Amino acid sequence: MTHIIHRHLHVTPPVAVSAEGVFITDAAGTQYLDACGGAAVSCLGHGDPDVRAAMRAQIDRLAYAHTSFFTSEPAEALADQLARTAPPGVNHVYFVSGGSEAIEAALKLARQYFVEIGEPERSVFIARRQSYHGNTLGALAVGGNEPRRRLYAPLLIDVQHVSPCYAYRDQRPDETPEAYGARLAAELESAIEACGPGRVIAFVAETVGGATQGATTAPPGYFRDVREICDRHGVLLILDEVMCGMGRTGTLHASEQEGVIPDLMTIAKGLGGGFQPIGAVLAHEAIVSALSRGSGFFQHGHTYLGHPVACAAALAVQQVIERDGLLMNVRLKGRLFARMMNDRFAHHPHVGDIRGRGLFWAIELVRDRESRVPFEPAARLHARVKRECMARGLMTYPMGGTIDGQRGDHILLAPPFIVEESHLEIITERLHGAIDAAIGSLD
Ligand SMILES: Cc1ncc(COP(=O)(O)O)c(C=O)c1O
Repeated sequence: MTHIIHRHLHVTPPVAVSAEGVFITDAAGTQYLDACGGAAVSCLGHGDPDVRAAMRAQIDRLAYAHTSFFTSEPAEALADQLARTAPPGVNHVYFVSGGSEAIEAALKLARQYFVEIGEPERSVFIARRQSYHGNTLGALAVGGNEPRRRLYAPLLIDVQHVSPCYAYRDQRPDETPEAYGARLAAELESAIEACGPGRVIAFVAETVGGATQGATTAPPGYFRDVREICDRHGVLLILDEVMCGMGRTGTLHASEQEGVIPDLMTIAKGLGGGFQPIGAVLAHEAIVSALSRGSGFFQHGHTYLGHPVACAAALAVQQVIERDGLLMNVRLKGRLFARMMNDRFAHHPHVGDIRGRGLFWAIELVRDRESRVPFEPAARLHARVKRECMARGLMTYPMGGTIDGQRGDHILLAPPFIVEESHLEIITERLHGAIDAAIGSLD
């Protein structure tokens, strides 16, 4: 009997009791290779001694001080670190406790910016279908994950949604990747124009699609076009890098590979690597100086903003990544992983697409490779794959509704940055067995 409201009320998951490196162990002694970092969180794996030491030292000195009274050394040092490594001009940080809170703060900061500069009639956000930005009401509203939104639809602010980047299904056979990207960007511009001049606050997008769609990267030039369109219409660009950021795709920020600088960027997951709950909004100088010249006060706040232990943990995580050159490992191991998965799955009769970047990969499963027809949603293939993976001691992050919230199944993989070649071999091998067993169980 549990008193916890677990994610599924009829299923109590195994009890995790310890973890080290890329493995988590449950109370029954079963070891699971963490091939997804939970939900792309555990970038350093588990139990890093330097992060633990930094947390312990901080707890011993100062565990908590409310930010309406004090700032703290670890929060200031982490902000310095993030500003130093952010894209040019993006030099201010607002700390929160996770990804959804980061999105909420970004939406409010964007709205307040326009009020402060005398454009209060801007009240609309545009985002993308098949996206995920979090589960709080504002984040859910900008998100395009239909099953998660449906129940709460009457409570959500009105957000316009445009097409996501989904080359596997949406790029036309006669279209180059560049033309596909330009078509998507043109759709955004039409949506901005349809809202009316001076009405749109911001376009919100995951730089690389994550939980809802599975590691979908943008076609070349898409984000540069998006940036230009936003600038032309005075619209802010909010990039959500809660999942794909902080090194996951091989550069600290995924936007670096797109050649654009956002006005606001949300980060979380890999920021603290799971050692503590922490997220942040990285804000461009122009946004913060507008508030500074105006009211001088961001009309927002939470009790645990800039929590000293969370900041100390995140600072240590980021220092370990820098010290050990782990972004290089993400790039090298990412290339190796891509090769292994292609060798293993490129000719698999039920693998339609293998996509991703760095150590952020997804496999989309199809009933038929030729026609790209997905499996019946009622079969819940993604849930079967997850079960089969767990039975083989492998943590992956499968999801259904890849295509439209209903149809399609993919498996997201986000191994820790410290992953070794032998781990990648195990992941590929066990995943292959799990996929075949899950599909076999449909007969
Ligand atoms: C891109 C993106 N944004 C926001 C969130 C929400 O983060 P959290 O679950 O920490 O609230 C997630 C979580 O998966 C995410 O992937």
